[in-house]
Amino acid sequence: MKPTTAPKTYRVKSFGCQMNVYDGERMAELLAEKGITPAPEGEDADLVVLNTCHIREKAAEKVYSDIGRLVKAGEERGQKPMIAVAGCVAQAEGEEIMARAPAVSMVVGPQAYHRLPEMLDQAVSGKRATDTEMPPIAKFDALPKRRKSAPSAFLTVQEGCDKFCTYCVVPYTRGAEISRPYNDLITEAQRLVEAGAKEITLLGQNVNAWSGENAKGHAVGLAGLIHALAEIDGLSRIRYTTSHPNDMDDALIAAHGEVGKLMPYLHLPVQSGSDRVLKAMNRSHTSDSYLRLLERFRAARPDIALSGDFIVGFPGETDAEFEETLQLVDKVRYAQAYSFKYSARPGTSAATMDGQVPREVMDERLQRLQAALGRDQHAFNAASVGKNCEVLIERKGKHADQWLGKSPWLQSVWFEADAALGDLVSVELVEAGPNSLAGRLLEMVSA
Ligand code: SAH
Ligand code: SF4
Ligand code: F3S
Repeated sequence: MKPTTAPKTYRVKSFGCQMNVYDGERMAELLAEKGITPAPEGEDADLVVLNTCHIREKAAEKVYSDIGRLVKAGEERGQKPMIAVAGCVAQAEGEEIMARAPAVSMVVGPQAYHRLPEMLDQAVSGKRATDTEMPPIAKFDALPKRRKSAPSAFLTVQEGCDKFCTYCVVPYTRGAEISRPYNDLITEAQRLVEAGAKEITLLGQNVNAWSGENAKGHAVGLAGLIHALAEIDGLSRIRYTTSHPNDMDDALIAAHGEVGKLMPYLHLPVQSGSDRVLKAMNRSHTSDSYLRLLERFRAARPDIALSGDFIVGFPGETDAEFEETLQLVDKVRYAQAYSFKYSARPGTSAATMDGQVPREVMDERLQRLQAALGRDQHAFNAASVGKNCEVLIERKGKHADQWLGKSPWLQSVWFEADAALGDLVSVELVEAGPNSLAGRLLEMVSA
């Protein structure tokens, strides 16, 4: 590669899960420290960071089409952008990207992006740079302090996964489970609140596997961290995601009844309602143990909104086994959920299992599952009509004085008010749609 001028503007495009969104924000902060500014909306950036996801085939392939599009647009304009590939595809296929896409000058894995500024210097001097090392924690210490925050902020507390579900790439792209130290998290949360955050969502591939030592030197789990964060003045709401059924403990369940700032929402993926399929997935819970766990959350917090993840068409899944998933859905009545067609991922053991399910069968199963989940989501929203609740304003609506925010149950609520981003308001929920609710302003809670 030829030496080039240093980029003046950047754009970070994040795909995949919320942990990638968090990483994307941190990369943007690193670039800003180097004096590079965000490209204005609608304008081309000198440096584009593609922060990728490897979870399903479609997500992973997207990176190559995106690179192609950037190169083409750059050629038409007479100035190609510098391209960095970050995230889970970078981790899984770093060398392949470098070989397949000469336009890419940097490949940086999710545990190495604190090195982006040095890699950028290298790229400017004409040398392509790759870093997919996985040193635990090093990254966080090397990142700049938080200075700006949206009303609702993400905070990664735990990274990596040791569960090795047989279909999943995450243990390979994100490495082993690690917990960030308690004090670092309290400090980062305080900074986020000073920078404007009213709500913090604690993130981890298995967030409830987080453990640490509190200020008194006592071992604590996620519930202990949540109790401490609830003490921060100015922080109104706490959420956490994604949990694994096997890492749940009594303290976290109890916290839902004890901590007012902890929102009544639980995302607990189940993947399937069939015990045979769950075993083949290496999920280490049964449909029954999962249901009993949910009952305990409902006992601690009766209005808790439940959410989950599902995979249809795992290798060997029969019609009858798929029906068991529908039965589980009927029992739980999720407020909201995500469902996916199984996607064979390189290097995972399920990819070579017998009984790969034909695409048409997966399509049909996904449609039926999504119809059931959609029905329950609409019913949950409809049952909320008439309730009064607090809404944290996160976005401006389409019309003047129209605002959008989230209810405690993570529903999108829109309403009219003379208000501002980040205000917490009290509304009456007056009308329900499948994906959102209309509210009527009652009063301002805090500006
Ligand atoms: N750590 C979380 C989430 C992991 S990825 C958990 O264990 O629940 C988010 C979701 O993507 C998973 O819950 C699963 O439903 C889905 N997923 C993961 N690998 C997949 C694959 N190979 N094909 C289809 N969906 C997949
Ligand atoms: Fe993937 Fe399973 Fe780990 Fe979740 S628990 S990240 S699905 S291996
Ligand atoms: Fe995707 Fe990596 Fe997240 S594979 S879902 S971006 S952990």
